[in-house]
This record gives sequence, C-alpha cells and structure tokens, in this order.
Amino acid sequence: MKDGKFLTMGIETSCDETAIAILADGRTVLSNVISSQIDIFKNYGGVVPEIASRHHLENINGVLDQSLEEAGVTLDDIDLIGVTHGPGLVGALLMGVSTAKALAFAKDIPLVGAHHLMSHISANFIEYPELEPPFMALITSGGHTEIVKVSEYNKCEILGGTRDDAVGEAYDKVARVLGLGYPGGPKIDKIAKEGNPEAIHFKRVYLEKDSYDFSFSGLKTAVLNYINTEKQAGREINRADVAASFQEAVMDVITEKAVEAVKASGMKKLALAGGVAANSRLREKLAELCEKEGIQLYRPHPALCTDNGAMVACAAYYKYKNGETDGLDLDASPSLPL
Ligand code: KG4
Ligand code: ZN
Repeated sequence: MKDGKFLTMGIETSCDETAIAILADGRTVLSNVISSQIDIFKNYGGVVPEIASRHHLENINGVLDQSLEEAGVTLDDIDLIGVTHGPGLVGALLMGVSTAKALAFAKDIPLVGAHHLMSHISANFIEYPELEPPFMALITSGGHTEIVKVSEYNKCEILGGTRDDAVGEAYDKVARVLGLGYPGGPKIDKIAKEGNPEAIHFKRVYLEKDSYDFSFSGLKTAVLNYINTEKQAGREINRADVAASFQEAVMDVITEKAVEAVKASGMKKLALAGGVAANSRLREKLAELCEKEGIQLYRPHPALCTDNGAMVACAAYYKYKNGETDGLDLDASPSLPL
C-alpha cells in the first residue's frame, strides 16, 4: 500500500516483450515499462523462442528496477504480484513466472497467475474506468482471433475463433513475402494507407451462416499465389495495393462478424483486445460500423493493445478481488485454455 492505494505489479514475458507495470487500485497506471526485442528479431524475420527466453533473463531485473522507480515505490509497497502464466512460449513464460515467484516468496506478497488473453481484454478496464462486464470482445493477436462474451471480470465464453491462422499471424506472413520485415502487422498497417483496398479482390471467407468462426489460411495462400503469379509474369508488384487489399479482406470479415455477435447478444458494448487491435483500419472501420448500429466501442490506446504489464496487473487484481490466489507451485502453461 502507498498513500492508501492497493498496488499490483504485473509481469508479462509470454513472447518477445519483457514488461513490468505497477497499478494503483487495479486500474490506474503508475508505471508501464516495456522492453521490446523487436530489433533483435527483425534480423530473423520472427521470434526465436530460445533467444527470446535469454533476453527476458537479461532484461527482467532492469525492467523491474525501472518500473519501481517510475512508479515511485519500493517492493515493500507492493500488495499483489500478477504474472502471465499462459498461453505463450514456454521458456519465455518461465522467466516471468520464476521472477514473480521469487519476489512473492522473498517479500511474502500474494501471487496470481493471469491468462494472457484475459489480460488483453483487461486493457479496456484501464483505458475506460467506467467499463464493467458484461460486454463482447474481439480478441485479435499474433496467436489468437476470437469473439468472446465477457460475463464477469476474468470470465468469458468463446463464441467463435479461427480454425487455422490468427489474424496477426496472417499479417506477419504476408508482410514477410512482401519483404516488409518483422513484425508485419504495423508495417502492413502503414503501407496500406498508401494503397488501394479495391485494387485486388481477395475472397472473403465467412464459413457457415451464423458461425462466429474464422479462417485466414485461404486468404494468406491467395495473397502468396497472387504475388507469385505476378512475379512469374514479370509484372511489378504494388506492395501498398496488395497490403491494402489483403487488409480490407481481413477487416471486412472480422468487423462484420464481431458486430453480428454484439447485435445477437443484445449487449451493445464491444471491446477490442490484442496486438492487432492497434491496427488503424480495424479501429476506424469498427468505429463507423458501431456508430451506425448504436454499439459503444471500446478501443484501448495502441500501447495498451500490444503486450504490456499493465493489462496483466489489472487481470490479476480482479482475480485477487474474487478470492483467487496461486501458490509457489504456479507453473508456465503454454496452451492454457480461456
Ligand atoms: O498481442 P500481441 O502483442 O502478442 C500476442 O499475444 O500475440 O500481438 C502481436 C501481433 C503481431 O502479429 C503483430 O504483427 C500484430 O499483433 N500487430 C498488428 C499491429 N500492431 C501489432 N497488426 C496489425 N496492425 C497493427 N498496427
Ligand atoms: Zn499478446
């Protein structure tokens, strides 16, 4: 406690960001330090799990010190430690989980393991202090694409999800073949602004009527085939047009399905979550659709959409308030279900 506020530390190391944040009373950010390994993985075209783990180990103490310093607190002021324990890369997760357990043990602080996707959803509670469940959420990250009904803090029901690639994964792969580099999502977002989304028609895959599931592997293959065909014919590829056309095909499907799910639920609230929620076209397109349909849209600041410790601290805070804590046997769980 400091100045009468309950302090939660959130630790996130599920992929390539080493991140530690401190929140006051579960929703107010005192510090949110993120050390990204993007510069390292640019050279590899993607995350190399073993290298990611090593960098977490090298970075985590520095990130911890900086987070405490920026928040103006010490470890003795921390009331709760939350840590991502899954899903994610097992070696990467273990770095955060081991750190959290060591701190909890040394300082006798309660420990809570947080689900990475519930944490992404919880970014909305930080950005919008008035937001409370129930609401619908569209989760789009590097590993997940799901439409979920958030019934309570830390409880949700999956209405549909991808049957193959996640949206972020499709973005990263298309960016790679376009030679845009890693991570592909932000690069496609940027270059698509200069392209024509109607230049190339890629088929929209809606699957069965009334299904909230997705499939993006066909779209990804269609983009790769288009690029190969053009190259073989000796024609120059307009990367901005390909990026914009691919992006529009993705966004048409996910925005339409998300809005349909909200309308069917009768809830009138939709929250965005996950790294791809930082995408400018997704944010703009959903804002237009939601306004037309009378749906309140929640879009956390892009820095809260991609991996960070603040969202983890928030998810952990609500689990703790619900009476849930973990012991020192907490383990990394790479495929933890929602
Ligand atoms: O949530 P996140 O940071 O990590 C995971 O939990 O996966 O999401 C990372 C994913 C990557 O695939 C990245 O390319 C994508 O989010 N991403 C974006 C944007 N920013 C990040 N995709 C599209 N547009 C963006 N602006
Ligand atoms: Zn994530």
